[in-house]
Amino acid sequence: MQMQPKVGIESISVHVPRYFVDLKTLAAANDVDPGKYYHGLGVRRMAVVAPDEDPVTMAVEAARALIERNKLDGGRIGLLVVGTESGVDGAKPIAAYVHGLVGLSGECRTFDAKHACYSGTAALRMAADWCAVHGTQHRNKALVIATDIARYDEGSAGEPTQGAGAVAMLVGDEPHVLELDLRNEAVFSREVMDFWRPNYRSSAMVDGKTSISSYLSALKNTYLTHRAASGFGWDDYEYLLFHVPFPKMAYKAFRVLCGLERNDNADDQFDLRSGPALWANRELGNIYSGSLYLSLAGLLEKGGRKVEGARIGLFSYGSGCCAEFFTGRLGTDSKNWADKIGIGAGLDRRTELTYEQYLAFRKNGNALACDGSYTGDPQGAAFGRLRKVFYCGIRDHRRMYFVNDNVAQVARNSGIETRSRRSSVAV
Ligand code: HMG
Repeated sequence: MQMQPKVGIESISVHVPRYFVDLKTLAAANDVDPGKYYHGLGVRRMAVVAPDEDPVTMAVEAARALIERNKLDGGRIGLLVVGTESGVDGAKPIAAYVHGLVGLSGECRTFDAKHACYSGTAALRMAADWCAVHGTQHRNKALVIATDIARYDEGSAGEPTQGAGAVAMLVGDEPHVLELDLRNEAVFSREVMDFWRPNYRSSAMVDGKTSISSYLSALKNTYLTHRAASGFGWDDYEYLLFHVPFPKMAYKAFRVLCGLERNDNADDQFDLRSGPALWANRELGNIYSGSLYLSLAGLLEKGGRKVEGARIGLFSYGSGCCAEFFTGRLGTDSKNWADKIGIGAGLDRRTELTYEQYLAFRKNGNALACDGSYTGDPQGAAFGRLRKVFYCGIRDHRRMYFVNDNVAQVARNSGIETRSRRSSVAV
């Protein structure tokens, strides 16, 4: 029998947007009992992007942090796949912008994967298969990024489940974070109109109840397929991670698995096996393609040595729909997880918005998403001068990005425009 090569996630990094709205603030504005958002959905705060942040800048921030932390030679990356449902152009992939702004080698295949929230997993699985084949070559690392802004209509039922963020993962043959089991595939697809975003809209359309039942039936389907194919059962998983549109959904999912496994101790088991992964999702909200991986990162960042070597089950769901249940084993590298993945540090840096400020950000966000009419603030002053990459609006139908190469100096100086070296890039 041929040996299966070791492949998986070598390192992971999360970008947290700099602004948030507390769900109590949103509940007051929507005239809803805050208990519904806090406990009924399980969300505390939702991340909000500034007008000069977009899915590209978030992806670049996450990727640059990953590369810097690992002192990675970019020349070793032969594949860059971005999973997203927040595409910024009908033709040009986010991966192309990221490739330019991060400065990767020309000998690199770049493209986006799209299937709603499943796109992060589609990108990861594709990268893992690619790494399994290219394992012995010099250029054998893949960069996978899941980046999204979750936006629903103002005042809608979906609004409290908004969020934003990006997760970057280095994939290769030294899986210090998660070694993937590539042998057992359990996927499920079925065309369904549960959640979609027509090209002319910046916020998503959703049939909430249909989306929940579609998610849960895809979970049952893939879990049972996986159990039959792999022989792994309930007791083999120390942790179970799910796609998290809102944390209560993970609880609903867990209960469904308890039902399948005839386990009547759902609440205690949930607190042990899934609860520890959800703290970051409560703070950022739905980040669509990255939500499952935000849970993984959250588990690592706070789990420490306790989670080392654990076998985990992961369920990924993308509306439309495509779903997958898969497994892997966590690495034994916890010294590189605590405080290094970027969630805690990102949360510490953020600023709370009033409801009126949130609406203003939203208005500018819509303008840039729909027609590019937002022309940006290249000073970057209003929206966080410690960031490295800014979106500056559209000129001549081209998206403009602004790279601040000297962030430390910017932080020291208040007159940022004159004293820091900056480069403006149209990519
Ligand atoms: P809703 O209809 O306004 O909420 O929207 P509800 O009335 O069903 O209430 C929600 C929960 O809050 C209920 O608990 C209530 O009992 C409880 P549950 O029955 O679910 O256990 N509740 C309270 N609890 C405490 N105190 C109170 C209180 N009041 C009520 N005072 C819905 C909910 C999720 C449908 C809505 O937010 C929505 O449409 N969200 C967007 C769609 C979504 O997230 N779907 C999830 C599955 S699909 C998916 O995950 C894919 C997705 O990520 C996209 C992609 O793939 O790209 C969305």
